[in-house]
Amino acid sequence: MFVLGIETSCDETSCSVVRDRKVLSQVTVSSLKYHKQYGGIIPEIATRNHLRFIDKVYNLALKQAGIKSFQIKAVGVTHKPGLIGALLVGINFAKALSLGLDIPLLGIDHLHAHCFAPFLNTRKRFSFPFIGMVISGGHTELFLVKDFDDLRVVGKTRDDACGECFDKVARAFGLGYPGGVYIDKIYKEKYKNSFSFTCPRIGLDFSFSGIKTALVYKKMELEKKGLLNRKTTVKIISSFQESVVNTLVDNAFAAASEYKAKKIVFGGGVTANNRLRRLLAEAEKKHKIKVFLPEKEYTGDNAAMVAGLTFYLYNNKGHKGSLSLKAGG
Ligand code: KG4
Ligand code: ZN
Repeated sequence: MFVLGIETSCDETSCSVVRDRKVLSQVTVSSLKYHKQYGGIIPEIATRNHLRFIDKVYNLALKQAGIKSFQIKAVGVTHKPGLIGALLVGINFAKALSLGLDIPLLGIDHLHAHCFAPFLNTRKRFSFPFIGMVISGGHTELFLVKDFDDLRVVGKTRDDACGECFDKVARAFGLGYPGGVYIDKIYKEKYKNSFSFTCPRIGLDFSFSGIKTALVYKKMELEKKGLLNRKTTVKIISSFQESVVNTLVDNAFAAASEYKAKKIVFGGGVTANNRLRRLLAEAEKKHKIKVFLPEKEYTGDNAAMVAGLTFYLYNNKGHKGSLSLKAGG
């Protein structure tokens, strides 16, 4: 049985065909290059580009999977959270397919789909409950996952999202967008404690705005003293990243301990971070709690995670969806 997934919540227009958890195709076009000059995503630009690309991306996804449209048995589309105009393009395209092909239409929560990403292309059996942690440009949330249709938020950011903090700090230092990618690249472990920046944990909640402001003030202070050069920038940024990723790891394992979960499943753009991945490998051994990370290809926004979760909810859990699906909510 083939299932189609559609993702248009932000700047990626993505379609994917899966058979169970096997990804048969994934085609993604990003409008990132049109946003770069603004240092963030401009919703109208994202929406217009989804309209430009969605049918081509869909046709190519089918072609690469080697199937025809009548072979699709269900379609799943991200319906929240995301940029409302961008979501609407994917939802309306999916509705047209659902009507035209007479197949069920399932609305997929983007954050739940991120939690599904580590299970793509694997045969690992699910065993619930586990802690799910989504760390992306728009969200930082910890879930208690009893099943993929039974998720409860147990921790979240009280202000900026983690990726947003990476992006804003990178912008302040003129490093480029998306910031996490550039910060990850220039990080040097030997400078991880050069500066002392703290990133608070409030129970299982996070706060990233304080550390962002601290970085901006430190930059201004060093600039005034004429001490801001490439080396000090690398030292500041390395200390910043070290503090943020340690906070992420600590909170994830604290959640596992609080809810007696033996597994933590990670998803979202920030999970591509190399230092985070190394720390998680160490923590996994230390705490004897299994860590699941997505393949790098599926860390950021992609339709394969949407298709995989759709397959599971439709085939294993009997979800039928509805044509009255709305964006957001
Ligand atoms: O999941 P995602 O692609 O989109 C959202 O749903 O937001 O996440 C994008 C975020 C951006 O903030 C970007 O800076 C961050 O993921 N990111 C990283 C890395 N690669 C992307 N953050 C830290 N290290 C990375 N290697
Ligand atoms: Zn995302």
